[in-house]
Amino acid sequence: MIPIVKPFLPPNDELMPELEEIIYSGYIAEGEKVYDFERRFSRFIGNKYCLSVNSGTAALHIALILAGVGPGDEVISTPLTAEPTNISIKMAGAKVVWADVDPNNGLIDAKSVRSRITSKTKAIMLVHYAGMVCDLNEFNQISKEFNIPLIEDAAHALGSKFNNKFIGDSPNHTIFSFQAIKHMTTVDGGMLAVNSQEVFDKGRLKRWFGIDKTKPRLENDIVDTGFKYHMNNVNATIGIVQLRHIAEVIKKHINNGMYFDKNLNGLSGLSVPTYYKNTEPSYWIYTLKVERRSDFIRLLNQNGIAASELHLRNDKHTLFSESKRELPQLDDFYGKLVHIPCGWWVNSEDRQKIVEVINKGW
Ligand SMILES: Cc1ncc(COP(=O)(O)O)c(C=O)c1O
Repeated sequence: MIPIVKPFLPPNDELMPELEEIIYSGYIAEGEKVYDFERRFSRFIGNKYCLSVNSGTAALHIALILAGVGPGDEVISTPLTAEPTNISIKMAGAKVVWADVDPNNGLIDAKSVRSRITSKTKAIMLVHYAGMVCDLNEFNQISKEFNIPLIEDAAHALGSKFNNKFIGDSPNHTIFSFQAIKHMTTVDGGMLAVNSQEVFDKGRLKRWFGIDKTKPRLENDIVDTGFKYHMNNVNATIGIVQLRHIAEVIKKHINNGMYFDKNLNGLSGLSVPTYYKNTEPSYWIYTLKVERRSDFIRLLNQNGIAASELHLRNDKHTLFSESKRELPQLDDFYGKLVHIPCGWWVNSEDRQKIVEVINKGW
């Protein structure tokens, strides 16, 4: 079966000696390897304020706090995402306000977001779902107009671009996940990209109990609660080795995604997503809208190709019942949503086969 997701790990003879060295080095906690990983990741993304943490969820939680989100506030978000996007809003004590999605790609819809803004709105959560980039032209404008910060959940979007720059190189708080199945894994881990030294330093305190690691422990005075969210030297070492390969891995995702854009476009019974102006997806997985979805999934499975909806729309969870509202565009999109594999493991024969199987009809 060609899987929808699969972790890329560097070759054994490259990764293992470095991993072995750090594991037995006597220093496996947050240390030089972590700071080295941050510097290298920063260079890759083009933003010097990248703060590593132990998950994408931790990065989201800190990002929300840095944006000033707290109890009683509202954050506008999308139900079409993995649950941590919205769980983190609850972790910050705020209420999730659902916006509808764009029927052409399932991304959070700017018009719908505008209609949800109230005096309680403290942040807007943008999810660059499946590696597709939200309408940042519109959202940056909304952010300026209403003075509301944007948080970009780029857990799926390492290597995606807006205006020729990588996602993460922007004035917004952007988070990445290095969990098992993302473009790049450190087994688990995450990164928060911010826009100034001041915000970076506040984030640094939040990631480790509120203690300032740059000062001697006995000279510290904790003034605000922080968390145990730091990355350690072992995960960071994996990250350092992964970064040598990431450009090549992302390139394979993009080549496959562009192949599907071209070769599935116009087939009857399905539609390929449309992308916003000046955005370039990094195609973590490939998103389609299909008629008779269960028949489509059965056809692909019978031919050794995985296909699935992947995520439960988050508004179905009891946890978010206070946020319940009509979302007609999501109803339509989610009823037809399916993902097919397009990652680094899909070779040119695989992708040709996927198109041929779909072409036969279902
Ligand atoms: C869209 C999205 N946001 C956030 C996360 C959270 O990342 P992590 O699993 O690293 O906490 C994930 C991954 O699970 C995700 O898919």
